[in-house]
Amino acid sequence: MKDTYSAGRIENNSADTFPMIELSNVSKEYIVGGSQLSVLQKLSLNVAPAEFVSIIGQSGCGKTTLLHMIAGLNQPTEGQIRIRGKLVKGPGRDRGLVFQEPRLFPWATVAHNIRLGLPDRGRDEGRLWELLRLVGLQDFAQAYPRELSGGMAQRAALARALAGSPEILLLDEPLGALDAVTRLKMQDQLMKIWQEGSLTVVAVTHDIDEAIVLSTRIVVLSPRPGRIKGIIPVDLPYPRDRTALDFNVYRQELLAVLE
Ligand SMILES: Nc1ncnc2c1ncn2[C@@H]1O[C@H](COP(=O)(O)OP(=O)(O)OP(=O)(O)O)[C@@H](O)[C@H]1O
Ligand SMILES: [Mg+2]
Repeated sequence: MKDTYSAGRIENNSADTFPMIELSNVSKEYIVGGSQLSVLQKLSLNVAPAEFVSIIGQSGCGKTTLLHMIAGLNQPTEGQIRIRGKLVKGPGRDRGLVFQEPRLFPWATVAHNIRLGLPDRGRDEGRLWELLRLVGLQDFAQAYPRELSGGMAQRAALARALAGSPEILLLDEPLGALDAVTRLKMQDQLMKIWQEGSLTVVAVTHDIDEAIVLSTRIVVLSPRPGRIKGIIPVDLPYPRDRTALDFNVYRQELLAVLE
């Protein structure tokens, strides 16, 4: 198992004989309007514990479909997905998912939405406030989703996904609705959450710089049907400097694979 990344965070642990996430020849087809639609074709990928893998690819290439299958909300048509060697058969508390659209319960306040993600249904007030502070929503604990901006709703959804203390965090463009400054702040915050929690993260993004800032590896998917077009390991120390020459080399490499 490959176990050393530039972050120096991944150490070989002989107990971890399985990858955290293992995709073996995963394909997905849908029937749309009576005809077969091939969305993903023969994806194979191993994600090691504590990796941060970003997925980049054109709209409609199957990124959300892939994330939902890892979350257990959807099954592959062919192939298998394993978490620590166990076949994924449905959702579990080991995986937290932030949907592309925040999907908060409209009848519940921000605090209530996050409480619903806590294992004891939110009796742990300390943990609730820790999560609210983490995403900068402590002043909006009693607000309803309709009273939030798009970015605030995304942050509330992130807190809810973290509430169950998952080992794996699955993020579907979680920073998509944020303004440039908040986005940069949230990237830093996400990096802290990832590093302090020893989380394994798979994140879908359309933002090249975001992928380079955060990821141990970047997976580029081809247009539908999504196949792995390239995998770019990002060998830069954290925190990463967007203005560094090396950073630009990765920008160019990523653009070349995307084109
Ligand atoms: N439940 C479904 N039933 C039928 N077709 C679906 C379903 N979900 C997704 N699709 C189709 O699968 C393809 C991939 O969709 P998906 O949402 O995974 O793409 P995506 O890469 O996340 O795109 P975007 O970047 O726009 O979010 C699309 O063509 C879509 O129409
Ligand atoms: Mg999507």
